[in-house]
Amino acid sequence: MLTAASSVGVFAVGPNWAQITWGDLSPGVVTFAVGGKSTSIEHAGGPGSYVVEDLPAGSSAEITVTTAVGKTILLPVHTLTEPWGRPLTKFATISDLHLGALRWGFFKTMTEPEGRFDDPYPVRCARAAISEAARWGAELLVIKGDAAQHEDPDCFDMLGRLVDEFPDMPMMLIPGNHDVDDGAVGLPDGLGERRLAFATGVEHLDVDGARIIVANTTKPRYGSGTVAEVKDDLIQAAAEANSPVFVGLHHQLQTTRTPRYYPKGIPAPESTDFLDELGRVQPGAVVSSGHTHRNRVRYHGDVLVTEVASTKDWPGVWGAYAVYEGGICQSVRRTGEPSVMEWTEYSRRAVAGLWSRWSPGRLEDRCLSHVWAGDTHLVG
Ligand SMILES: [Fe+2]
Ligand SMILES: [Fe+2]
Repeated sequence: MLTAASSVGVFAVGPNWAQITWGDLSPGVVTFAVGGKSTSIEHAGGPGSYVVEDLPAGSSAEITVTTAVGKTILLPVHTLTEPWGRPLTKFATISDLHLGALRWGFFKTMTEPEGRFDDPYPVRCARAAISEAARWGAELLVIKGDAAQHEDPDCFDMLGRLVDEFPDMPMMLIPGNHDVDDGAVGLPDGLGERRLAFATGVEHLDVDGARIIVANTTKPRYGSGTVAEVKDDLIQAAAEANSPVFVGLHHQLQTTRTPRYYPKGIPAPESTDFLDELGRVQPGAVVSSGHTHRNRVRYHGDVLVTEVASTKDWPGVWGAYAVYEGGICQSVRRTGEPSVMEWTEYSRRAVAGLWSRWSPGRLEDRCLSHVWAGDTHLVG
């Protein structure tokens, strides 16, 4: 399958904005018009991203994109419904940075030309994702595992240098299976000058409007995960919270004992028992994982369960979370930095092009508004 560049489309929506991305447009002026207002940008050519701001929440609109060669593309968009109450906190997640990786694809044959960029693609992808999250206004970054390609001092040094580039961004970090593929004996006590440590059990942080909990689901040297070791502490941290709960894990919670898709995560009934218990102590909680490098959403009772794709392969994303009194909005955004998009557009050709369709999920898998359970101020 020959995979062309991605088409011009709406990749993400928030309550008041929409992200338009494209894989290949001619250089020159590109104009975005909606509701009688228009903005123009000078595009260098190739892939790109533009965020249309100041859209009304929970509304339908049509964005008209006019390319440098005069082609007009109409993009219907529906912004997220804003949960009831004041906006309280913004935080971001990233996962599957795989710092130290040099190749990608089913046969690991995809790579960049030597010397094309100063830094390898996983570093550029992660750095740009964090920068864009900070610019968006994230007050906390949750790194949901597979930060390093291997449990290796060189990869962890790379990770330390990266987190040191953002000294003002509070961070929480959990390991993924790649971070402990040598048995978890080499996990550093602290990364970089800031001595950011991997959570080896359960940690939480109370922000305005939510409790953020992270937990280590790895089984050293195994690809799959478990909540067995952390479940009691995790449930306790959720039960004791005075606000709604967001849980960040590396491994996805499978709906079945045998995985219906790969890689293996946390099998049922372990996964479903955990979600049942979480839903009992914190109805309406949110659980989000990485590991699958794909975007996906489902509900387990009234617990929202999401998977968010990797920073470093198509589509190359980070998760934007806006917390309100009455709920939370998740918007998975593509990282728009040009050298990152050059790589992520190339990496979509993986697995004979099937990756281009598999990984992004639907817009509804990436962007949604979730009302905290028990909230009686339901929005229309
Ligand atoms: Fe990964
Ligand atoms: Fe993983």
